Amino acid sequence: MKIFLDTANLESIRKFNDMGLLDGITTNPSLMSKEGGNPKDAMAEITKIIKGDVSLEVVSTEYSGMIEEGKRLRQYGKNVVVKVPMTPDGLKACKSLSSEGIPVNVTLIFSANQALLAAKSGAKYVSPFIGRLDDIGQDGMHLIREIKEVFSNYDFGTQILVASVRHPLHVVDAAKIGADVVTLPPDVLDKMLQHPLTKIGLQNFLADWDKLKSGNPDIKI
Ligand code: G3P
Repeated sequence: MKIFLDTANLESIRKFNDMGLLDGITTNPSLMSKEGGNPKDAMAEITKIIKGDVSLEVVSTEYSGMIEEGKRLRQYGKNVVVKVPMTPDGLKACKSLSSEGIPVNVTLIFSANQALLAAKSGAKYVSPFIGRLDDIGQDGMHLIREIKEVFSNYDFGTQILVASVRHPLHVVDAAKIGADVVTLPPDVLDKMLQHPLTKIGLQNFLADWDKLKSGNPDIKI
């Protein structure tokens, strides 16, 4: 399963990229707004740092504006995936951009039927938002299971990009189902790195090493 980071925060992107964890990045207007500044600078920098796919989202809601913005966004790099909303105009833009060889991520997916339609329109990725479904008392992960089952019957080539991830359990569950990608907020990836027994284990190793060293101060690894 590929791991994308769901952020426009350059510090987090560099931090996890240096660990070799990132296959790509997803952004959206809210994430851009959270960082402030000029989003153009962030987009240029992210597409430089990351070799894999970087989703940059349009803000137009009608077809011609989406096409215009999609083409402008694509100028940031060959790794740019144009993110469009799951609307009739979004699907029309998805079909046009995809047939010109520009990959598209259809976002704001909340049902298996929406995912099916986005795949039919040629999307490279569909982004089901599982956390937002959980928030309203529906089982977000059930949607991932459904989309996986539907896609496995056909040959769309569209990847399931699990979005709106809230905690590490979402990630394990998505991996068990066989989702293609999860996009993670930096705090979720941070939590995945940690385990209390790892911390205690390391403290014990170092304390034992100090004991050994106290009798032989010149010892070095
Ligand atoms: O990339 C968009 C998606 O991950 C949004 O997540 O937390 O705003 O529901 P959230």
